[in-house]
Amino acid sequence: MTPQERIAELRAAITQYDYKYYVHNESDIPDAVYDALMDELRLLEQQNPAYADPHSPTQSIEVPLDNTFAKVKHPQPMLSLGNGMYEAEVDAFRDRVTKGLGTHDVAWVVEPKIDGLAIALTYENGTLVLAATRGDGETGEDVTSNIKTIKTIPWTLRPNGATPIPRRLEVRGEVYIPSAEFDELNARLTAAGEKTAANPRNAASGSLRQKDPRITASRPLHFFAYSIGPVDGQWPDTQWGTLQALRAFGFAVNDDARWFATYAEAMAYATQWMTKRDVLAYEVDGAVLKVDSLAQQRELGVAGRDPRWALAYKFPAREATSILKNIIVSVGRTGNITPAAEIAPVQLSGVTVSNASLHNADLIKKLDLRIGDTVNLKRSGDVIPYIIGPVLEKRNGTEQPWQMPTHCPSCGTALVREGEEVAWRCPNVVGCLEQRKRRIEYAVSREALDIVGFGEKQAALLVDRGLIHDVADIFALEGDDFVGLEGFGKTKITKLIEAIAAAKQQPVNRVLISLGITLVGTTVSQLLMQRFGSVAALAEATAADIAAIERVGPGIAQSVTEFFAIAENRTLIDKLTAAGVQTSGGAAREATSSALANMVFVVTGSFVGMSREQAEALIAEHGGKTTGSVSKKTTAVLAGAEPGANKTSKANELDIPIIDEAALRRMIAGESAHQEGN
Ligand code: IVH
Repeated sequence: MTPQERIAELRAAITQYDYKYYVHNESDIPDAVYDALMDELRLLEQQNPAYADPHSPTQSIEVPLDNTFAKVKHPQPMLSLGNGMYEAEVDAFRDRVTKGLGTHDVAWVVEPKIDGLAIALTYENGTLVLAATRGDGETGEDVTSNIKTIKTIPWTLRPNGATPIPRRLEVRGEVYIPSAEFDELNARLTAAGEKTAANPRNAASGSLRQKDPRITASRPLHFFAYSIGPVDGQWPDTQWGTLQALRAFGFAVNDDARWFATYAEAMAYATQWMTKRDVLAYEVDGAVLKVDSLAQQRELGVAGRDPRWALAYKFPAREATSILKNIIVSVGRTGNITPAAEIAPVQLSGVTVSNASLHNADLIKKLDLRIGDTVNLKRSGDVIPYIIGPVLEKRNGTEQPWQMPTHCPSCGTALVREGEEVAWRCPNVVGCLEQRKRRIEYAVSREALDIVGFGEKQAALLVDRGLIHDVADIFALEGDDFVGLEGFGKTKITKLIEAIAAAKQQPVNRVLISLGITLVGTTVSQLLMQRFGSVAALAEATAADIAAIERVGPGIAQSVTEFFAIAENRTLIDKLTAAGVQTSGGAAREATSSALANMVFVVTGSFVGMSREQAEALIAEHGGKTTGSVSKKTTAVLAGAEPGANKTSKANELDIPIIDEAALRRMIAGESAHQEGN
């Protein structure tokens, strides 16, 4: 292929992606791939100036607009931003700036790069008369009625002492949706059976381009002002002054923006600020460095569609490639065997990761993951990274297929898998040391007995020494038992013994949690103890008695009766009672989420991270109900892999939304985020 042909090919492809992205808010390819194509085109154009074309996507984005909104020609083009991933690229930008200006006397403003969409707001004599999207930078769309529904955008400029209200002023900034509100919105859309958005930016863009402003009004849109277009009147002569003036006129201006006298300080701030990405309430894709003086900005001018006076210092990608070194399995409290990936250490959104989750053996098989594979990883928010899949082109034949062990890595018992469960389990409930450790860890955790100073390490040490076998043994521990054990000084021992004694006062519902009965967590244990009053009474109850409690289903009833059918578990209750732990006395109220209150779910199919029972318990934990069949009263059908055809077709017939596990978790998370805000 000649350079000319490749240039034509790249231009056609990029134009198509731009159209999809800017008009339909969709992207067919990852940002990194788009950037790479654009870089290749830029380089080829540089090397072959004969093929320069003002209509090349490197010069402008040519995007046909939809006809739904009136077109608005921007009096001054809305620019884009050049970007750099590495410090060296930002340093090179600084060099261009100082060279272009012929001086090192440059002050800087650093601002977050908000991942939303750019808007231009025109105010005449202080009144909002027009709001336009960026569009292709030259022509946007009139979205005034929709913009007026955004509460952080003033309809009239607030008069202030510092700057008189200009006769005409164009304010520019970013419309965005905060991450938590995005999750809530998607949960709402799911519950209503509507299409969800892939990310907050698409959601913001889609919300703004609604034909009915009432729909826009119901969307959690926010706005940060960061610059101005044409102004007819007095205006500060710096970017920093611009931000202050915008704030004074009543706009939201990002609090993390800062002014710096030197480039070194600006870069130090940008670099340090970038580590905050995951704790910000909204999505950011980097920091923007801007020359502060507007006169210097004008002097530097524009190259193509990027200003020469600003650069986006972009975040490291949230996706990475590494080598799968090994797959290790761990044993959980209920005997579940979970595989996890050990990978060659790799940088992923700013941190080094060497472990990734794999969920279950079926997934490993489905992905055909082999030890030694090059794998793609993803990490979003602060959750553990997970493996997307192997890079097949990188295989050289030395990769080893992985086999799920057939026996427990701790006690050697043959693993089992029951019914529809995806997880393999070690059935040696009483004898398996790992299970014992996990159970004790769980019993002393914050949700259960809450023994401070007792955790994974202490549980492992004491079980290995044979000092404790079950949760009741904890209460027989004496100071002398710890003497000589690694990590136990005198004060530590005294404190721990005190914490153990204090745990005897925990209410019975917490004691019930500490038993580690499958599906019996915070909410269910309260319901059970409100009804039965004591663990002994619960042990005598029939499955029908238990299932008759509102919000407790047959799955929980079965789990509880199975637990008490084991003689050792009954002995455990006697031991706890004898140790002075409260095994009766009724439940104490604890705060739980009511995210799913008044909602009725039907659960069908199998899930990746949990069993169907666990899904039902999760719903109950958050105040929801589950039933066996779909009816008009059903809020949503929670469908896993291979859902029951009857249930899904009935749901479709009745127009009841079918949601997946992720959507359920968003519904739960959305509500708890909401509660925190209250
Ligand atoms: S300055 C003349 N400042 O990023 C420079 N843009 O990639 C263009 N953006 O279209 C505007 N936060 O939608 C600027 N603090 C910020 C920004 C920001 C987000 C967006 C904006 C622009 C895009 C360019």
